[in-house]
Amino acid sequence: MQHFTSVHDVPAIDMLVKKAIEYKATPLRDVVLGTGKRIGLLFMNPSMRTRLSTQIAAKNLGMDAIVFNIDKEGWALELEAGAVMNGTTVEHIKDAAPVLGSYFDILCVRSFPGLQDREADYSEAMLNALKKYTGIPIVSLESATLHPLQSLADVVTIHETFKEKRKPKVVMTWAPHIKALPQCVANSFAEWTNAWGKAEFVITHPEGYELDTRYTSGATIEYDRQKALQDADYIYVKNWSAYNDYGKVLSTDKNWMPTAADLLSTNNASIMHCLPVRRNVELSDELLDSKNSLVTQQAGNRVWAAQAVLAELLKQ
Ligand code: CP
Repeated sequence: MQHFTSVHDVPAIDMLVKKAIEYKATPLRDVVLGTGKRIGLLFMNPSMRTRLSTQIAAKNLGMDAIVFNIDKEGWALELEAGAVMNGTTVEHIKDAAPVLGSYFDILCVRSFPGLQDREADYSEAMLNALKKYTGIPIVSLESATLHPLQSLADVVTIHETFKEKRKPKVVMTWAPHIKALPQCVANSFAEWTNAWGKAEFVITHPEGYELDTRYTSGATIEYDRQKALQDADYIYVKNWSAYNDYGKVLSTDKNWMPTAADLLSTNNASIMHCLPVRRNVELSDELLDSKNSLVTQQAGNRVWAAQAVLAELLKQ
């Protein structure tokens, strides 16, 4: 594995899931693997889980981690090729990236989309420039379009909690939010669940919230949420803004916020959400505080997912 920026970088999902579960059982089994190696974590946006879980994972492998809030403490970066830099940007990524590549053995970055220009966001300029110019493995800590460390933790959570000998029915449902949010988590969960291939996968959302088919292809899209939730084993709750009418909030319909009543037609479904969650906007207290909620376990699994990924990259 050269990089970890999408499921396409991963040779075998099951191998990473197995490795994550092994690290969960024995966190320090590879504590010398990263001795003398340094990992950089660049943040252009806020984070709690990704930031802390990746640092813990690195420490469990014996690595030194340095966090850099590049949006607040670094020079403003220019990404455009051939730019005449007479505006607000101070340093070109072509100059900054090789320096970062010389400081670190693995470089991780969080860079959200602007949600104004779909083509620009979906080009993943930051990630691709770092891949091109650093010369070291790049890990996405959530990019403009995807959140693969979250998705690996999600797959681990489903794998370790589903005990029956059939495929679980996993329903990803759109939920309301007061702000326009990226499509990253939803894109990524769809991409990973489809690639994993071990779930019956249904996506439900109001009309207008269709995601890019390059991620959803293989899933069943069901606009009738009651029909979608029928017999669900897992309900993955997430808001996202529109992909087609790019970055727009098209609905705030409260009926899309999952409540305990929604469990009645399910197979006593487990509730998943990547967090942070707006309580009683996106997901109800009664579900988040119920025994059906997996959100803390899911966030806990971020450590083991990150550790599995970093270990694979260290072996290169
Ligand atoms: N789920 C997730 O990525 O959380 P943070 O934004 O806190 O890292």
